[in-house]
Order: sequence, then structure tokens, then C-alpha cells
Amino acid sequence: MSKTSLPDSSIPSQSTGTIFDPSALIAQRAMEIDASGIRKVFDLAAKLKNPINLSIGQPDFDVPEPLKERMIKAIQAGKNRYTPTQGIAELIAPIRRQVMESTGWRDPGILILSGTSAGIMLSMCALLNPGDEVLFLDPYFVMYRQLPRLIGAVPVAVDTYPDFRLHADRIEAAITPRTRMMIICSPSNPTGITLTAAELSAAAQIARKHNLMVLSDEIYDAFCYQRHESIAPLLPDQCIQLKGYSKTYGMTGWRLGYASGPQVIIEQMSKLQQYTFVCAPAPAQYAALELYQSQSVDMTPMIDAYRRKRDRVVSGLAEHFTINPPGGAFYVFPQVPGSGTATEFVARAIEKNVLVIPGQVFSIRDTHFRISYAVSDDQLQQGIEILNELAEDLL
Ligand SMILES: Cc1ncc(COP(=O)(O)O)c(C=O)c1O
Repeated sequence: MSKTSLPDSSIPSQSTGTIFDPSALIAQRAMEIDASGIRKVFDLAAKLKNPINLSIGQPDFDVPEPLKERMIKAIQAGKNRYTPTQGIAELIAPIRRQVMESTGWRDPGILILSGTSAGIMLSMCALLNPGDEVLFLDPYFVMYRQLPRLIGAVPVAVDTYPDFRLHADRIEAAITPRTRMMIICSPSNPTGITLTAAELSAAAQIARKHNLMVLSDEIYDAFCYQRHESIAPLLPDQCIQLKGYSKTYGMTGWRLGYASGPQVIIEQMSKLQQYTFVCAPAPAQYAALELYQSQSVDMTPMIDAYRRKRDRVVSGLAEHFTINPPGGAFYVFPQVPGSGTATEFVARAIEKNVLVIPGQVFSIRDTHFRISYAVSDDQLQQGIEILNELAEDLL
């Protein structure tokens, strides 16, 4: 064996003659994470030639030119090294101002993150002990159910069917002495539902009554087809607000987001970042300065186009599908027509070359499916027509 080649696990160990099975060493927590639902869809999809892909969780537009140029300049200027763990001061300052302005918070801590995902993980690590419970609304973003398990905490999904609204009584009923955190995601992935000021106020009241920390995931705040409402202003000492650049600017691969919240909590998250993500990508942090230092990036035309796509898909499917009209993000979550499961419906859609995701990936139930309309109008129209044909066959 050459010095650089890795040992092949199927070759019997020379010392003992037994076959070493690396999978025997996989930890329970990794085994408990279930990726099977979404993997099945992608396995089926891999067989398709040119699918109409309505499964993608990122915008179909590219990063705006001024941001790309700033990124290239940052790399060329040598901004390629570690930054301070909490992020570069030049970026923290304008973010901090914006957070204070939009929330009314007086002295928030800010942590620049490797994507909003890092903020979900770090806030759970900072705030949850083993056995602590985390509430979130079902249908939910996949990480909310899986990540608590990694740290021995308990995910608790609060059913919101059939309207996907926030029902305060159901949240109250799910609270136990072990509940520590409540996650609010508005606009929502996968339903596109945006919560009203009244719903957020009811959630804030519950958080105050039971001393819960609220994790407010606002990654889709730019994709709001009316005014974006946040729970953050209602909970100055009890909320971690997460925002990101991934979706707004089509830069999911650049890995950039930020958390704001009470300084004592943000400091703990920052300490944990030091030993995990270390820092957010340096060139992306410098590139993001473009957004605060000039007026060169205007996403309004993109957001307007997405509003029209939302209208097109909602009206295009209205005759055959039950849909709770989404107010934001780029998803709709229609009910499957007929009596079969969403997984069965999705398998049929895939046979017709349309890729959507079955509800059970985002929910305890399997009665709905997620459509992402972050595709060209042409693809969207074709997808709508095929889904309608499928529904006609089933009804
Ligand atoms: C609700 C929600 N939160 C967080 C994320 C993570 O985004 P990122 O880590 O790219 O900022 C996503 C991505 O799909 C999402 O849908």
C-alpha cells in the first residue's frame, strides 16, 4: 500500500484477520437522523432526463452583479483568512443599526453566521439541555425536527392543519415544564404562510408567560408579498432573530447569515462558533458590505416577479387543489386530491416528469406536497398543467 492511499475497509486487517466494519462505529445520534423521505424523491428524480423541477429551495436568479464583483475584489485583495469569530466589525455595525431600527431593541448582540442554518444549530446548543423541549409549528422546516435530537433535546411539532395558522390554544396545550424554546418561521417553509401581527402577539404572550426563548427564523423576510411582520420587537430579551442572505440574493452557496438577540446569549453562541464553524466565509462577509455601503442592489424586480409566480401557481391550481394562499417565501403546500398519500401522489408526478416534495418530509402527516415556484414561468406553467392532469385522473 502506498503511503497516501486509504485502507479499504473490505480488506481483512493484517494484524487480526477480521474484517473491519466502519459502520459499526456510527453513533446513535447520526443513525436517528432520518433523511429517507427526501432521499427517496431525489433517487426517483435522478432517473428523469429533464424534469420540471418544482422541488428546489433556492431562487432561480443568480447573485446580483455588484455583489459578485465585490466578492471577486475581496478575494483578490486577500480577504481570504479567518475573520474574528463574531464577524467583521464593518459588517456588524450596519447590521446592528438595522436590527435596532426594525426591532426597537436597545443593545442587541450580533453574530455573523455561516448561513442561517448555523444560527439554528448554535442557538439550540447554547440554550437547550438534554431533555428540554422545542416547540415549532407543523408543517416545519426540516432542521427544526432533526437538530434538537443531536443535542438530546426533544422536538415537539404543534399541528396547524388544515389552515396552517398559529393556534395559540394548541401551542399552550403542547407546553410542559420542560419546554424551553419556541421556533417561529414566517414566511414559512414549506407552506409560504405569513403570520399576522395578532398571531405573533399571541405567540409572544405565551413565550412571556412560560419564560420561553423564541427563535425567529426570518430567512424569507424579503419574499413577503405584503408588509413583513416580526415577533422580535415584542420580545426584546427573549428572542433570537435569524436572518440570512442566501435566499434574498440567490447566494445559498456563499453561506452567510446573522443572529441578533440578547448579548449574553449571542456571546454564548459566539463561543460555540469558535469551536465549530470558526467564522463565516471571509470573502462573503466583505462582499455583503456592498449592500450597506451603496444603493447598487435592488431586489424589487425579482420579488415582484416571485409575487406574480405565486399568483400564477395559486390561481392555476385553484380548481383542483385546496391551497391556503401563501403570503411569502416561494412555496405553496397544496393538499393531495383523492384519498392517497402525498408520497403516492409525488411518485405519480415524477412518472410525469414533475418533481415536488411529499408532505411527510416536512410534517407528521403525509397529505400535502410542497411546490417551489422558484423556476422560470415556462417551467411553472408546464408543472401546473401536469399537476392538474394528475388531479383530474384522481378525482
Ligand atoms: C426556513 C429556513 N431556515 C433556514 C434555512 C437555511 O438557510 P441558510 O443556511 O442558507 O441561510 C432555510 C433553507 O432552506 C430555510 O428554509
